[in-house]
Amino acid sequence: MVEVWFGDWSRSLPGALGWVAMADKERSFRAPRGTFDVLPPQSWARAAIARLAMDTFALSGYAPIETPIFEHTEVFERGVGPGSDVVTKQMYTFIDRAGRSLTLRPELTAGVVRAVLEHGLDRGPLPIKLACIGPQFRQERPQKGRYRQFTQIDIEALGSEEPMVDAEVVEVGMRFFRKAGLSVRLMINSVGHFDESCRLGYNKVLGEFLRANESALAPDDRARIETNPLRTFDSKEQRTVAVMQGAPLISDHICDDCRTHFSAVLDLLKSVDVSFELEPRLVRGLDYYTRTTFEFIAGGLGSQNAVGGGGRYDGLAESLGGGPLTGIGFALGVDRILLALGEKAAASPVTVYFVALGEAARLEAFKRVASLREAGIGADLDLGARGMKGQMKDADRSGARWAAILGESEMAAGEVMLKDLVAGEQERIRMDDLAGRLAR
Ligand code: HAM
Repeated sequence: MVEVWFGDWSRSLPGALGWVAMADKERSFRAPRGTFDVLPPQSWARAAIARLAMDTFALSGYAPIETPIFEHTEVFERGVGPGSDVVTKQMYTFIDRAGRSLTLRPELTAGVVRAVLEHGLDRGPLPIKLACIGPQFRQERPQKGRYRQFTQIDIEALGSEEPMVDAEVVEVGMRFFRKAGLSVRLMINSVGHFDESCRLGYNKVLGEFLRANESALAPDDRARIETNPLRTFDSKEQRTVAVMQGAPLISDHICDDCRTHFSAVLDLLKSVDVSFELEPRLVRGLDYYTRTTFEFIAGGLGSQNAVGGGGRYDGLAESLGGGPLTGIGFALGVDRILLALGEKAAASPVTVYFVALGEAARLEAFKRVASLREAGIGADLDLGARGMKGQMKDADRSGARWAAILGESEMAAGEVMLKDLVAGEQERIRMDDLAGRLAR
């Protein structure tokens, strides 16, 4: 790019200075750290995943909802929880021109619950089933699968404590992954509810254990003993992980109601052939979780292998100032799903690319492309009157499986040369048979 701008910069000093200035300028116009542009052809796969997810959720009765990309900071402080890493370390918070504290959403759930309460959807039929998709923002250290702007697809079911809702949410998630062709492991746990007889009681037991083992924990984790003991299960520090192997488990301390609820969820999952792995050390990074919690794990992604996660949040509406309104949902990480799918991710939906030589052939191709599209077949053509070689290159680049070549002799015979761009074979077929042939 530099050479196009300045020619051979090394020939003159001003050129060289210009190059330096340009290099600086280029650097300052890069996308910010931890963000990226989505360009073709990868953008096809991303769009296909979003469509597949929203279609899968719609078939299960989850209606689309959109909420703002920024909310009042308090929605996340009170919703996601002041003790979570997301709130204490990762939020993009700013003061707007009117002096209000606003935050780019780090997740969708708190904003969706805020919207449900604001518009009184909880006064209508329950549960309220919603689905949404969009960019989220967290200032984390970027690495493969972890970005500062990333896309989530999310469903939420609010207003029912029934185990069947938990099972439905999890089953819908697993169905989406099956349809996407991605094999995932489902890890599931129950973290009980906020009560002395349940999680709060367990926190005391866990706190005692952690204090007794304090010197063996990593320094950062020692600081959590009083504020958020459950989070020590999430630690990546080897010393802490070793200590946590001997820690008391929440599954042994949840109350009878939560235990009965959880076993009903598991029975329902079995009834629809959803396999799961009980993971008694699964605690999630956001503070609002109660009872059923789960994660979808994919292979080949290294440490960022959770392609989705979710759970119940029966106290969230109240922490946002609403009345009692239970809920459960999950969010899937689109960026990680695409990484995990790799080559299997859907390519361009263009099936056939027309290569037309001569004005009459171009006009014919233009009409044929329109009627193929009408029949639901992805079709494209050269709009720039390029030569044969250029058009064949474009056909390859388009990602189409077939090139339909229309030259003078094909036009005269009412035929088209259909070339398989993968296998390299070609055959002449009647133009009118093209749609039928491609549909096969
Ligand atoms: P989460 O576990 O924080 O849950 O995020 C869900 C998924 O978003 C993760 O499993 C991961 O795939 C993706 N993700 C999270 N952070 C990043 C990142 N920095 N870069 C790329 N992908 C990322 C939630 O957000 C909850 N709101 C889910 C939920 C909905 N719970 C109940 N309802």
